[in-house]
Amino acid sequence: FSDFLTDTFGRQHTYLRISLIEKCNLRCQYCMPEEGVKLSPKDQILKAEEIIQLSRLFVSEGITKIRLTGGEPTVRPDLKEIISGLNELRPLGLKGIGMTSNAITLQRRLAGLQEAGLDQVNLSLDTLVPAKFEFITRRNGFDKVMAGIDKALELGYNPVKINCVVMRGFNDDEICNFVAFTEKKPIDVRFIEYMPFGGNKWNSNKYISYEDMVKLIREKWPSFERLPDKPNITSKAFKVPGFTGQVGFVTAMSEHFCGSCNRLRMTADGNLKVCLLGNAEVSLRDALRGNATDNELLEVIGAAVKRKKKQHAGLENLTKMENRPMILIGGAEKKH
Ligand code: GTP
Ligand code: 5AD
Ligand code: SF4
Repeated sequence: FSDFLTDTFGRQHTYLRISLIEKCNLRCQYCMPEEGVKLSPKDQILKAEEIIQLSRLFVSEGITKIRLTGGEPTVRPDLKEIISGLNELRPLGLKGIGMTSNAITLQRRLAGLQEAGLDQVNLSLDTLVPAKFEFITRRNGFDKVMAGIDKALELGYNPVKINCVVMRGFNDDEICNFVAFTEKKPIDVRFIEYMPFGGNKWNSNKYISYEDMVKLIREKWPSFERLPDKPNITSKAFKVPGFTGQVGFVTAMSEHFCGSCNRLRMTADGNLKVCLLGNAEVSLRDALRGNATDNELLEVIGAAVKRKKKQHAGLENLTKMENRPMILIGGAEKKH
């Protein structure tokens, strides 16, 4: 395995998240500050061929899975072209191409993206009540999102993962309705612990821990059971016995998963970020545009990976930390 992608704690990085764009067609409350974020000038955003060129390098060093994020990746006009370019990296070792999306445009576009090579989708949905959807996203679009999710099922994505950020007083009363969603369909609902992030007016009253969610679900389904962990997962898997789909919990706050972290990220403006949390970044765009050779690029990447910290997550670190807002990292796919 490539030395460049192995950190000082022995973690081998095989998973690259690429943010394609800073813009979004929704404006979720938890993902960006109300006043919006300052967008990078257009010429600083990586072009499709630059993304492919860097991805080729990462894949040749051992990245096997690439996930496209945003902003909202489908807002990028050349998304299909980017997926096709990544698809050509499979002979070099790329096994999976995923996308995290708000699903707004997928009814229309997903078939084309699948044809280009997209093989996994994680879709965001925080509520099953249209009026609440409008409140949290500050936009219309509930019906489009539901149609996008149906489209993903129809096209055979299995599982279709649904990300639900749980906030007390907003959607904690809907947790069981989301679990019911997994009964007859190959849907994995993942409940995400709400995280304080760059300007989202973090309010600890809104935070609900994974343990509390499990308790709530067990009141209705006492047999709700934990499944064995897969390697490098960010989410703990559960299931109601007999249901088709699963339930997961992304516990970045209550129980971090840094020890098995295999992720690197690239921001839309071409910075390598070795951890979702923390603001240490290095520009691959500048190196690339300065005509760096592959080896010089690898030196830059390797040095950044070697600076990756042992762990970061946890309430205490998160609330104190300076970072980009989520929209500019691509943990999220909403808003701008
Ligand atoms: P797969 O496991 O590939 O299906 O995707 P994923 O869960 O990593 O990605 P997704 O984009 O669906 O993100 C779901 C949640 O996990 C989001 O809330 C992210 O912020 C969180 N998350 C993703 N990657 C990391 C990470 O590296 N560290 C932490 N702490 N949280 C992460
Ligand atoms: N806390 C938890 N999850 C968040 N996401 C965006 N911002 C936050 C936050 N502050 C989620 C999105 C998406 C996933 C990739 O990240 O809702 O589902
Ligand atoms: Fe990996 Fe950093 Fe996320 Fe921990 S907080 S899982 S080290 S990216």
